[in-house]
Amino acid sequence: MTTLSEAEALDELRDALGMLKDREQVARRLLESSAKHSFDPDRELDWEAPFEEGKWFWPPELVSLYDTPMWRRMSEEQRVLLSRHEAAALASLGIWFELILMQLLVRHIYDKSATSAHVRYALTEIEDECRHSKMFARVIARGGTPWYPVGRVHQNLGRLFKTVSTTPGSFTATLLGEEVLDWMQRLTFPDERVQPLIRGVTRIHVIEEARHVRYAREELRRQMVTAPKWSQEFTRVTSGEFARVFSVAFINPEVYTNVGLDRRAAVAQVRASGHRRDVMQQGARKLTDFLDDIGVLRGVGRKLWRSSGLLA
Ligand SMILES: [Fe+2]
Ligand SMILES: [Fe+2]
Repeated sequence: MTTLSEAEALDELRDALGMLKDREQVARRLLESSAKHSFDPDRELDWEAPFEEGKWFWPPELVSLYDTPMWRRMSEEQRVLLSRHEAAALASLGIWFELILMQLLVRHIYDKSATSAHVRYALTEIEDECRHSKMFARVIARGGTPWYPVGRVHQNLGRLFKTVSTTPGSFTATLLGEEVLDWMQRLTFPDERVQPLIRGVTRIHVIEEARHVRYAREELRRQMVTAPKWSQEFTRVTSGEFARVFSVAFINPEVYTNVGLDRRAAVAQVRASGHRRDVMQQGARKLTDFLDDIGVLRGVGRKLWRSSGLLA
């Protein structure tokens, strides 16, 4: 047995026992993986290729209105157009998250040793997010769709949060931003009904985000053991509040107006949709199982998660 596979076996054993892994060791693995699997979207993707007639911009089952009475009355063309605008809304949301995350990462490493692998990896992740945000902006422009910023209240909540949040709070928010979208993107990139450019964008994002999720999970697991009790409790409550903000900000309702639908009626139908609730809960399940496991989903925090609709 080589040393590496012994280390990996030990890693798996620790995983199974829910034990903490060495921070530097995790970061070194992630740096190796970043060196092997990183992409330059500007060169990797064919940005000039025309869109294919009749293909979706997001899998129909993941479009917010899918299977509602309004959806059944829409023409196929209008449904595809809605998928185009929702893809742009999600890309806009992705940019918002990534800008917040980049600032959180900079704050996280500010006092740490610059020569550590943990700090080097954080800087690498920031590089990834810079490429992603540019890629999302380019795909929004290429789709001929508007940029869909979050509402003013959420914009200002984000401004406050990225400035004052605690370390465990930051990593909980990171996972919330990354994991639900990641679940959707994993269904999008292999889907042959979807436009090749969208498949390419989501494929790059899924590959690079897997490392970010690993980094955030390991750090959060550590933090929920080592952070002061008040900070752990604060994380439980704030994470429930993020979940509520997240579920409301997820799709910008402006998309309905822009495809010629009644915005208020559309929002009401999405809220009442059992299919949509299932999609959002499935998308959050891996994350909620993990948060439950490390003790984030307790007390008031759990109640807030339930009211967000992301936890059954
Ligand atoms: Fe990203
Ligand atoms: Fe990320």
